[in-house]
Order: sequence, then structure tokens, then C-alpha cells
Amino acid sequence: MPNTVIVGAQWGDEGKGKIIDVLTEEADVVARYQGGNNAGHTVEIGAEHYVLHLIPSGILHDDKICVIGNGVVVDPLALLGEMDALHARGIATKDKLLVGDRCHVVFPYHRLMDESREARLARGRKIGTTKRGIGPSYGDKASRQGLRACDLVDPAFPDLLAQRLEEVNSVLQAVGAEPVDPPRLTAAYAVAAERLAPYITDSVVYLNRAVASGKSVLFEGAQGTMLDIDFGTYPFVTSSNATAGGACTGTGVAPHRIDRVVGVVKAYTTRVGEGPFPTELDDETGKHIGRTGHEFGATTGRARRCGWFDAVVARYSAMINGIDMWAMTKLDVLDALETIRICVAYDCGGERLDRVPANVRRLVRCRPVYEEMPGWRASTRNARRMEDLPAAARAYVDRLCEITGVPLGLLSVGADRNSTLRAGL
Ligand code: IMP
Repeated sequence: MPNTVIVGAQWGDEGKGKIIDVLTEEADVVARYQGGNNAGHTVEIGAEHYVLHLIPSGILHDDKICVIGNGVVVDPLALLGEMDALHARGIATKDKLLVGDRCHVVFPYHRLMDESREARLARGRKIGTTKRGIGPSYGDKASRQGLRACDLVDPAFPDLLAQRLEEVNSVLQAVGAEPVDPPRLTAAYAVAAERLAPYITDSVVYLNRAVASGKSVLFEGAQGTMLDIDFGTYPFVTSSNATAGGACTGTGVAPHRIDRVVGVVKAYTTRVGEGPFPTELDDETGKHIGRTGHEFGATTGRARRCGWFDAVVARYSAMINGIDMWAMTKLDVLDALETIRICVAYDCGGERLDRVPANVRRLVRCRPVYEEMPGWRASTRNARRMEDLPAAARAYVDRLCEITGVPLGLLSVGADRNSTLRAGL
């Protein structure tokens, strides 16, 4: 398989876990490149249901190597919890999982800061974070105060942490939060470090050697393009580059070693957390989509906001990520609808926009311009080939591809591995 980046084209939760699981069959190595345990990938294999937050879903395959790349922020306790849960179900991680030694570590104080920042923000300005400490951890990275996986396993770790806690505790006290007890935190993390040490390695060298020796790598993005720190609906975004460019900076593999980019896109749109969402449906249809699509966050359990397919967003994603083909998911969720709408442009105070404006205050004023198509009112769940789809469903998918200028590579009509129609991927 060519070296492939899998990227979310909307606000995350596009069903990347399933697509990655399907494509993993053909890859040798799966490398996650950004985010942390704010992500939640759900994979269903027969009757088994797995939710993974940090570990690539490739771990469910016996013969794949999974890498947590340097662009990921790792909460060691969360990672160990996930590993233990896999071990309890008979899935091994030894010699299958590598953790980049350049990954930044998430500490409990990052979570405290995340929570207290959110609590202090006024209504309308809250981000609706997952409260996993992701923003503060990337903040420490950017301000050169973070501790990395290589520090965690260094004998100097207690001193490095103690130094860092001097400032952290003064900040926590200033915001009225409990200060952290250095010896207690050091002791807890020393135990985690000992358990994780065999997994921590120079993932940059490992991945480049793998690519040089002809192994195929699947680069796994978390969240989605509209949550990207640079290209998303800033400040209502996550703190990393979820877009395809993040695959290079988050793994240390050069751009020209990557052969293609697959964009995962839902046949409608969802968003969890706060921030603008032009095609949001605040009505019975939105509720129907949410119920039928089980649109609840895999990490926080929050109900996701639901809306029509936004082709302005999808085109923007295709441009930024260089998407070669769509892996379109959850078409079956629309099975019962009489008519289906597609947002083809925005009306922003009388001006027609066919791009996403940078300014969120402008974006909230944008009204979607819709095109309407008839629904198919029949189940697509048992379709296994494109020819099995009702004509109206096929026409809807074709229209989405036409309007976004990206061909279809794969279509998913159910959660199971088998409910996947290959169309060129
Ligand atoms: P954070 O990543 O926890 O800082 O949250 C920032 C924003 O990204 C919030 O709106 C979250 O709901 C959203 N977010 C973070 N991770 C995910 C994800 O995996 N899927 C969807 N939204 C996410």
C-alpha cells in the first residue's frame, strides 16, 4: 500500500477509526501524528466494540506495528490504562507499540489548567474542550517548558519536574486551584515511566527506516481539519495540526515520502464542543440524525451537534490536505430522510462566499445556501457494492464528490468492517 495519510475533513468524529482499521490490513505500520487522549476512535469487529484514545487501532491486528509519533501529547496514566484494558482482552502491546521519545507528556496540572481556564471563560467564549489537558500541554511545548517522554525515563526526571512545578504551582494558586505535591507526582510518574520505558524509543528513526526499507505506513490523524490550530475555526479548535501537514511534523517523515491523502468525511456534519457550525440543525431532523448515527462523543459522552453536509468546509479541507479521495462514512444514517440538503455556499450579509472565512465572528453570521436532493427512503446497510445502492443514494454521493471535486475511494454504510464499499481505494 502507498504511504497514506488519513485525515478528518470536518470537525472530527468522521469515522476515521473504522477507515483506519480497514486500511490497516494493507499497511505494515500505523503512526498517529497529533492530538492526545482527547480523541476517541471506535472500532467494531463482529460483536466486539473497542474505543481507543491514544493507541492506534492497528493494535487490534496481530502483525502491525503501532507508533505514537512525536506530535502526540501523551498522558502516561491514560496510556497505561488503555494498554491494561487491551491486555485484559487478550490483545498484546509488547513489541507492537512504540512511543516517540519526543512526545510531550501530559501531567495532571495540565488537566487542572484546562478545567480552570474553561471555567473562567465567559459564556460564548468557552471552547468546550475535552478537559484532558491537551491545550496546556501543547502550550508548554510551544513555550519550551514541556517535559517529553525522553525526560520521563531520564534519571534527572524528579529534578526536571520539581523545577517545572515551581512555576506551575504559582499559576495554580493564582487561579485558586490546589497546588501539586512534587514528591507525590514524581512517585506516580516514576512508576508509569518504569512501565512505559520499554515502549519509549526514537520513533523518528524507526519510521524513516521503515519507509526506506519499503514498508508501508498509514499516518493516522485525530480530530479534523476544522479543529486544526491553524486552519480550523480558531479559537474553537484543538491545539495541534490535525491536517495532513501534521503527519510530517508529527512523525519526522518528509512530505515527499507520503504518497496520498485520504479524507474521511461523513455524509452529513457533526461537531462536539462549542464554536460556529453553519449547517447545524436545531430541529427534529438534527435529533433524528443524532439518534440514528449514535452521535455521542467517544471520549466525553457529550451529544454531538448535527447538521447537513457542508461542501464549503469539505472543499476547504480538500484544498488544505490535498485530499486524493474521500472515504465517506455513515451514509446509512440518512436512509429514512425524505429530502436531504447540501450546503453549497454561505450567504454572509448578502455576500455569497464559497470559502471558510478566517474570522469566526464573520462565520457565525454566515447562513448556508442549500441545494436539495430527494432522499432514498430505503436501507443502504446491506449494500456491499456501489451497484447495490438505491439510485437516489448513489446520486447524492456522486453530487457530493462532484461539488467538492474529489473522487470517492470508499463508502461506509455501517459500523462493522464488512459494511464498507470499495470504490477505487
Ligand atoms: P481539546 O482538544 O480537548 O482542547 O478540545 C478542543 C475542541 O476540540 C473542543 O471543541 C473539543 O470538543 C474538540 N475535540 C477534541 N478532540 C476531539 C475529537 O476527537 N473529536 C471531536 N472533537 C474533538
